[in-house]
Amino acid sequence: MKKGIAPGQALQPRLQAGVKTDSLEIAVHLDGSVGTPGPAQSKAIANLNEEINRCWSGIEPMQHPIDDNLESLKTQCIGQAIEIGVDGRQDGEMGHEPNPALTDTSQHKPDDHAPLRLGLMASGNGSNFEAVARAIEAGSLNAVIKLLVVNNPGCGAQKRAERLGIPCSVVNHRQLTNRESLDRELVRQFQAADVEAIVMAGWMRIVTSVLIAGFPDRLVNIHPSLLPSFRGLDAIGQALAAGVKVSGCTVHLVTEDLDAGPIVAQSAVPVLPGDDNASLAERIHEQEHRLLPMALTELALRWRQG
Ligand code: GAR
Repeated sequence: MKKGIAPGQALQPRLQAGVKTDSLEIAVHLDGSVGTPGPAQSKAIANLNEEINRCWSGIEPMQHPIDDNLESLKTQCIGQAIEIGVDGRQDGEMGHEPNPALTDTSQHKPDDHAPLRLGLMASGNGSNFEAVARAIEAGSLNAVIKLLVVNNPGCGAQKRAERLGIPCSVVNHRQLTNRESLDRELVRQFQAADVEAIVMAGWMRIVTSVLIAGFPDRLVNIHPSLLPSFRGLDAIGQALAAGVKVSGCTVHLVTEDLDAGPIVAQSAVPVLPGDDNASLAERIHEQEHRLLPMALTELALRWRQG
């Protein structure tokens, strides 16, 4: 099997041509790109997410240079077309063989590295925070949550932390004079908790260079759209208003440009007729809860391998 994966590389997917599905119909073109079905080149994906997750489940982190992984395994939203980096295998199948280390936690062998010391930030419900905590508990993410910081006292994330027994601190931005002083307090608390990397798991405040410089290249965000589409607030509402047929979620590193840092991982979901903010959010959340722990697993290996 060829180990490197090139975006746009020719592929021979194991998809049935012309199958109508209740989800998406997209074309897999001969050059490997995926877009609007064409008469000769179109094939249907019964479940796009299944395909994407197959790609993800096949990641062999110890065998690929991490930068190649990040470059090739991300899905990219280019207008309404999605390009999925996959491995062109000799047997013509698409993707990799499932990697038990990532897909079957009963077979998971913890890596030799010390657990990644994570800090998390959340503003609301906290379901992504809990997804990270559950992945750690299940042994699929070699990490420890040293501290959760919330900015809204009594929010769902805080309650989840209490239930899960994870240290949680409230930094109420309303009691601070500006964004920089909020970020200074975050850096202070995360450094005191000996955190190596920070995950913004539903953090609804714009961060400044104070936080970014405090944890250079170690600040991770999850955003509910296929970036670079629909940056900023209410990404799901923006996607619905634009009438896109595909949306999703993105894990990326945080830079000073809002929602524009290097993409680590993406997952796509269909936008179905009749979708409203709640129904699309639910579909995206389901993917976020899978994607964020997977992306952190990748990043942990990258950081540990130096
Ligand atoms: C998630 O959908 C996350 O992508 C989004 O907030 C939600 C938090 O949900 N983040 C942003 O919009 C950041 N711009 P949760 O509190 O249930 O994890």
